[in-house]
Amino acid sequence: MTRPRGRSAEAKPLATTRSRQCSFSSPRKPGGNMTIPRLTTKQWIALILGAFFTLVLFSQTIAPKATTWVLSKGPFERPPQEVVANLKSDISLDLSQVVVGSPTPHFRDNLRNDTRYLTSWISSGFTNDVMTLGNLIYLAIITNRVPILPPMDSYIGKWPQPVPFSSIFDLPRLRRALNIPVLEWQEVKDLESQEIDSLGCWNIFEVDDMRSEGPRNSRNPDILALDISYTRAPSSVKLIPGFIHDAHSSFWALAPLAFSDSRAKALASPDVETKPGMRTGTSTPPDEQLLCFDYLFYVCVDQPFEYGNDVYPSWSAVQKHFRWTSEVEEIGNGFIRRALSVADGAPIPPHITIHARHGDFSNWCNEPNGLNCFAPLSVFAIRVEEIQKELLERKGIHAEHVIMTSDEQDESWWDEVKAMGWLRIDHNKEKTAEDYGEWYPVIVDAYVQSAGQGFVGTDRSTFSTLANLRVRDWHDGAVRTVRWGSPDADSH
Ligand SMILES: *[C@@H]1O[C@H](CO)[C@@H](O)[C@H](O)[C@H]1NC(C)=O
Repeated sequence: MTRPRGRSAEAKPLATTRSRQCSFSSPRKPGGNMTIPRLTTKQWIALILGAFFTLVLFSQTIAPKATTWVLSKGPFERPPQEVVANLKSDISLDLSQVVVGSPTPHFRDNLRNDTRYLTSWISSGFTNDVMTLGNLIYLAIITNRVPILPPMDSYIGKWPQPVPFSSIFDLPRLRRALNIPVLEWQEVKDLESQEIDSLGCWNIFEVDDMRSEGPRNSRNPDILALDISYTRAPSSVKLIPGFIHDAHSSFWALAPLAFSDSRAKALASPDVETKPGMRTGTSTPPDEQLLCFDYLFYVCVDQPFEYGNDVYPSWSAVQKHFRWTSEVEEIGNGFIRRALSVADGAPIPPHITIHARHGDFSNWCNEPNGLNCFAPLSVFAIRVEEIQKELLERKGIHAEHVIMTSDEQDESWWDEVKAMGWLRIDHNKEKTAEDYGEWYPVIVDAYVQSAGQGFVGTDRSTFSTLANLRVRDWHDGAVRTVRWGSPDADSH
């Protein structure tokens, strides 16, 4: 069994990422895991022509469609790079339409005077940050602004080196799927300059979360050398007035702040107050050209925590198109193949992934012994059987293999997992962080969870929520969620 070693696949640190992300660059191919479907030259030409015309006709949905033909044929097989590369280069975004040119020491020099933008900061760990960026882009869409994404900089318990969103997710593909420009901060501002820029932003967190004493904290402005002058938003942005136990705004309470008249009206309300930035002492009202909010995780249509509901446009209109880069796919498939004992390059058989989130969830348990509070493996086994039955009936797929992902540290629990006949991806044994960089233990788990035909998740875990939606919408897969909190929490 061969596997890539060394740091070649490590995500690039943000400050040194100077290249434009919009043009397709051929990813390295660690392990040489590429599988080329056995097709004749004629079939390939037909495929490429077919894909091209689909592209012309349905440019908004070409990205998902381009792979559907592969996925629908059973075990996952990737199209060869040439096909994907051709599709990409044809419709890559011309950045000159949305920024003046190369990144500049002061971001303002690179904003076009005929274009309006929207940005915000992230502050809650990998999965919630991804959901926050989905909200940011959705808000930009409904206000007709160009979203500028801040770097990813955390996951639970860790502060890894910040990396661009595009080192994890396929940004060119996202731009095509949304058919709008999506920028990253390092494409706008030269981050090596470390020139401090003042920027006026709305502080909505302090209004929405009545227990907070200021805007939401984030490392992003420091990384981007920005000095933020926050203006407390009017109380009208809070979804449930006076309710201390919720911190949401609705998209449509925030959207008016993107337009001059309603912005002026908001600034005239008595509860609005601007504070100077902490680094330069400059007070500046919320920027009109680059609309900015402190924190957009708690934003919804009309219900707090709507992501279990049908109405979740941040997913269906945006995050659904956050597909992994080919590099993440290559590396992730390597882990899956090793777990399933499949040779490099061989097709990956259908499988089901479980996410059993433990860790700090035990803080929510009344049970003195955390393991009595979490759903036992026998409960997961029931849902696995349901999924196997559904996949067989609905799609004719036999999904025998089960991969467990969990943050549980107790090896005796993992012994039980093994006794169930389920497989494990062990990042300590695999030396994932050493080989691929500090982001990859979490990225590989998220990838593996998203790549199966079935998924069983843990209730109240947003890590599970996104895996559930990915398997459901990317693979037309079968999904279940396990409840917990007491021994019979999931008895249904
Ligand atoms: C906007 O920018 C263009 C190109 O730099 C310039 O020619 C034009 O005068 C500017 N318009 C205004 C209103 O500043």
